[in-house]
Parts: sequence; C-alpha cells; structure tokens
Amino acid sequence: MTRAEEIARNLAEVRARMAAAATAAGRPPESVRLLAVSKKMPADDVRAAIAAGQRTFGENYAQELRDKSALLESDQTLTPPPEWHFIGPLQSNKVKYVAGRVALVHSVDSAALLDAIEARGVPQACLVQVNVAGEASKRGVAPDDLPALLDRFAAARFVRCEGLMLIPPRGDARPHFAALRELRNREGVRVRPNVDLRELSMGMTDDLEVAIVEGATIVRVGTAIFGARPT
Ligand SMILES: Cc1ncc(COP(=O)(O)O)c(C=O)c1O
Repeated sequence: MTRAEEIARNLAEVRARMAAAATAAGRPPESVRLLAVSKKMPADDVRAAIAAGQRTFGENYAQELRDKSALLESDQTLTPPPEWHFIGPLQSNKVKYVAGRVALVHSVDSAALLDAIEARGVPQACLVQVNVAGEASKRGVAPDDLPALLDRFAAARFVRCEGLMLIPPRGDARPHFAALRELRNREGVRVRPNVDLRELSMGMTDDLEVAIVEGATIVRVGTAIFGARPT
C-alpha cells in the first residue's frame, strides 16, 4: 500500500467512526467536521489527504503553518484548496503568520492574544480555549474568566468568537467534554455582538466518539489519519 492509499484508508475509517458516533448520539453526521491535524507531517501527506476528499487541516506551529500553507497555495492543481485552522499555543509575536491566513484560530486563551489578533486589522474567526479542569500545566482560560473574554470580543472590530475549544486532561475526558458543552450553553444564551458559540472543538484520535456524543462540532484528529508524529 502506498502512503497515499494508507492516508485515504485511515481517513475513511475516521469518517466511519465519526458517522457511527453521530448516528448513535442521534445527531446528523454532517453536524461534526473533521479537522485533520497535519502538525509535523509533510506537505505530501496533506496532498494525499486532499486527494482523498479532506479539506480542513490543523497546524500547531505558526511558522510551520506559514510554510506549509504557502507551499500548497502555490500548487494550482489542488482543488478545492485546503482550509487551515490554527490549534496550538500562539505567542503574540507569531500572530502575523496566522491571522488572516486561517479560517479559525482554536486557541485564543487571553485578552492579550485577542488584542494581538485584533491589531492585525483583518477579520478573524476564533474559538476560546478553556481549561475546564483548572490544570496548572494546561493553557486555556479558566471558566470564570470566560465571560470577560467574550465581552472583549463583543467590543472588537475584526475578531469574532464562534465557540469553545478544549484539550482535556489525561484519563476520562467525558466529564470535561460535558463541562465544555454546559459552559457553552450557559454563555451562549447571552447575546453579544461578534459572539456566536456554535462550535465545540473537542475530541482527538482516542476519544472522538465520546466527544461527539457530548456535542463536538469539530474533532481534531492527527494520529488516526497520519500515524505517529515524528518527535
Ligand atoms: C490541540 C491538538 N488537537 C488535536 C491533536 C491531534 O491529536 P491525535 O494525534 O491524538 O489525534 C493534537 C496533536 O498534537 C493537538 O495538539
């Protein structure tokens, strides 16, 4: 089997897992999007995934995103062109490589980062990364700080917030997925300009089914599509 065939087979398996989970949860399969996490994977793997019908890709590193997206954008044979999402920690000085280049930044976790994206002066859809478990080692805003950050989006001109994102702690992720959904339900009913919490970005290779049962609208899957990442 060629690498391209392997990626196509893996993608089909992931899509089947997603559809089965959505159906079991009584949700339409098209209510969950697959973000293929191509971090540390070569552009040829992205090309193979595009050939197998995948459109949306997630990157964790600002310069890697810049380089890979530029390489693939120069390739006119890719139709439709890939859509990029940024899912990693983002330092303010790297925002220039990301803002305006991606359809969605999943990892806004501070007012300072929001301000840095806003300062680029280009429209940018974002998610807020929430640290629902309060883990010291994890990024993300504390649930108690979410309303103030959403208020800041409401006052912005260029950035808007389309939902919440979570990287759960090791172990049983389900209660954390449920907590993110409840937080979205609570804050989602408050009407703010530029804020529409329709997306829940949660679930990866090992736990995408349970994330879908708990309401994920975007699952971020790397290993099950591309195999183990190089270290
Ligand atoms: C934020 C984020 N989401 C999703 C993934 C994909 O994880 P997995 O390879 O377990 O599917 C990664 C991988 O590094 C990640 O950093």
